[in-house]
Amino acid sequence: MTEGHASTSPPRPTGVRTTKRRGRTSTAQIQALAALGEVWQVGADDVTTARRRAAAFGRTGPLLVDLGVGDGRATIDWAVRRPDADVVAIELHRPGIVKLLRALDATGPANVRVIEDDALAVLDAVEPGSVRAVRVLFPDPWPKRRHVARRLVDRRFVTHMAEILEPGGVLHLATDWADYAQHMASMVATEPRFVRDEAAGRPARPITAYEQRGLDARRTIVDLVFHLDGSRPSGPTDRG
Ligand SMILES: C[S@@+](CC[C@H](N)C(=O)[O-])C[C@H]1O[C@@H](n2cnc3c(N)ncnc32)[C@H](O)[C@@H]1O
Repeated sequence: MTEGHASTSPPRPTGVRTTKRRGRTSTAQIQALAALGEVWQVGADDVTTARRRAAAFGRTGPLLVDLGVGDGRATIDWAVRRPDADVVAIELHRPGIVKLLRALDATGPANVRVIEDDALAVLDAVEPGSVRAVRVLFPDPWPKRRHVARRLVDRRFVTHMAEILEPGGVLHLATDWADYAQHMASMVATEPRFVRDEAAGRPARPITAYEQRGLDARRTIVDLVFHLDGSRPSGPTDRG
């Protein structure tokens, strides 16, 4: 894990909002991790500064962070749509990571790096004002009342996103749980630096595995897109 960083936010206990851990991993998956991880995986330390990212990607582009990516199918799509950008996928669940690594190995694109770690710890170490977009698609909903405190998107999370995003940067959240959508909107509303992009609709992406589960259960998908400081990025849209 990385050393300290320049953020002014108080230290955050990491990993407290997920009980998911690495998951069962077969021998074949461990072998795939070892071989493909050499090519596609980086450590949290490798994305903390522009200089380190340049080494990890072999170039410098806008930084897009995809958090809790599952099998990463939407990450690959994002990176294909944004060949100019450096896309970092963060996931804890090993079977999902292996699927993503295998897909990257088969088809690329080359502008993705995968981090197996707690996304909160990784983002805590990222330089303030250095991220063009953060996306969280279908974070664990923790629907039971006693588990609500485990939800990823809370006030501290939102404040931290406002610190690490560039001016005009994008925060994109999606969920199929109505009360989590309301919770997300109310948490982001506590941070005046974020302005909702009402016109964003459903930013282009493939239907993710968890989105499909929500659709199968006839839940409504809600996408929430916010811009930091209300200014729009001048380059290609970062929300899809
Ligand atoms: C409900 S799944 C959604 C996966 C994917 N985004 C999708 O839509 O299919 C949530 C994912 O977030 C991951 N996750 C939860 N907390 C995390 C954390 N703190 N850091 C990294 N990944 C996390 C879980 O392992 C899981 O794969």
